[in-house]
Amino acid sequence: MKAVAVFPGKRQVRVIDAPEPQLQSPTQVKVRTHEVGVCGTDKDIVQFTYGTPPPGSDYLILGHECLGQVVEVGSAVRGLKKGDWVVPRVRRPCPHAVCPACRHGHPDFCITGDYTERGIKEAHGFASQFFVEDVAYLHRAADELRAVAVLTEPLTIAQKGLRQVERIQERLPWKMEAGRAVVLGAGPVGQLGALALMRRGYATSVYSRSRKPNPKADALEAVGAPYFSTQDLSAEELVRRVGTADVLYESAGSASAALGALGALGDNGLLVLTGVPSHAEPVSMDGAALLKQLVLRNQVVLGTVNAADTDFEAALEDLARFRARWPGGLERLITGRHPPEAFLDVVTGKAGGPIKNIISFS
Ligand code: BGC
Repeated sequence: MKAVAVFPGKRQVRVIDAPEPQLQSPTQVKVRTHEVGVCGTDKDIVQFTYGTPPPGSDYLILGHECLGQVVEVGSAVRGLKKGDWVVPRVRRPCPHAVCPACRHGHPDFCITGDYTERGIKEAHGFASQFFVEDVAYLHRAADELRAVAVLTEPLTIAQKGLRQVERIQERLPWKMEAGRAVVLGAGPVGQLGALALMRRGYATSVYSRSRKPNPKADALEAVGAPYFSTQDLSAEELVRRVGTADVLYESAGSASAALGALGALGDNGLLVLTGVPSHAEPVSMDGAALLKQLVLRNQVVLGTVNAADTDFEAALEDLARFRARWPGGLERLITGRHPPEAFLDVVTGKAGGPIKNIISFS
C-alpha cells in the first residue's frame, strides 16, 4: 500500500510501498484512510528535528490527524462496523506500572516519557492507505461530519485545554461566567480554539502576526471573532480595544508572542500554552515584573499537550455544534486537499493553502 514515510537516517521523505497491515487481535479494526491533516509537528519531523521511527524500523510513516472508514472489524469489536467513519487518537500509554497517568487511561499526562505517538514517536502514523488500530483508540464520527472530521484531532487540543481551565477556575469562590478570551496565533489550532471558546460563551478576539486583510483573519471575522495584528497593536492597545483576557489561549509556538502578550492577561486569568516552539528564541524581559504580575493578579500559566478519549468525544460533539452555529465556517478552514506525493511540499509550505492542508488517500 501507499504510505508517506520519513527516513531520518537518510534524511529522506517519500511515498513508499509499505506492507498492508492485517488484524492481529480480535479487538482490532482495519481502517481505510480517507484524509490526513498536516501540522507544525509534521514540519518538525520532516526537517528531522522531531519524531522517532518504531524500534527496528529505519522509517516512520507520518500522519497523526486522521479520518478513515472501517473496512474490517475483529470478532470482539463492539460499537463499530464496516463503513463507519472513525478518528483515531494519537498517544498510546507507556508500559510502566509506576505511571499513574498511563495506568488511569490518561497517557496525555504520562510522567515517564515512554509513551508512543502514532505518526510521531515510535509508532507508524496514518498517512497510508490502511491502518490497523485497537477499537479502544478509535472514535466514531457521524456520517454528516465526513467533510470536516479530519479537524477533530487539532480541535482536541482546545478541548483538553479548556477542560482544565474549567477545573482550575473552580478555585474561584464564585462561578466564573464565560468572560473574555484572546487567542494568540491564527493557524488551525488557534482558529479551532477560537470556535471552542466562543461556543463556551467567551467573547473571543484573535491576536496574530499578519496584517489584515488575510484569509485567516477573514475566516475568524466570518464567525464573529475580531482579529488584530501584533504589527498594528501593542498588548496595551489590545487591552484598550477588547479589555483584559480571562483566558489567553496561545497557539503560535512563539516565545516572544506568548510573553509579549502577557500584559493582556487579566486578574485571576489563565495563560494556556499549546504551541511547541520549534527553534531557540532568547527573549529579554524583566523576570521580576513577570513574577510580580503572576502573583499579584492570581494568574495561572498552563501548558497542555495531546488529548484523552473524553477530549476526542467532546471535539466530535463540538464539530457538530460549530457546523450548526457557523455554517461553512469549518469547511473554510480546510484550504487545500492534496495527493500523498505532495506531502513534503505541503508540510514545508511550498504548496497548499493558508490554513489547514489535507492529504487525501481516497
Ligand atoms: C499532536 C499531539 C502530540 C504533540 C507532541 C501534536 O502535534 O497533536 O497529539 O502529543 O504533537 O508530539
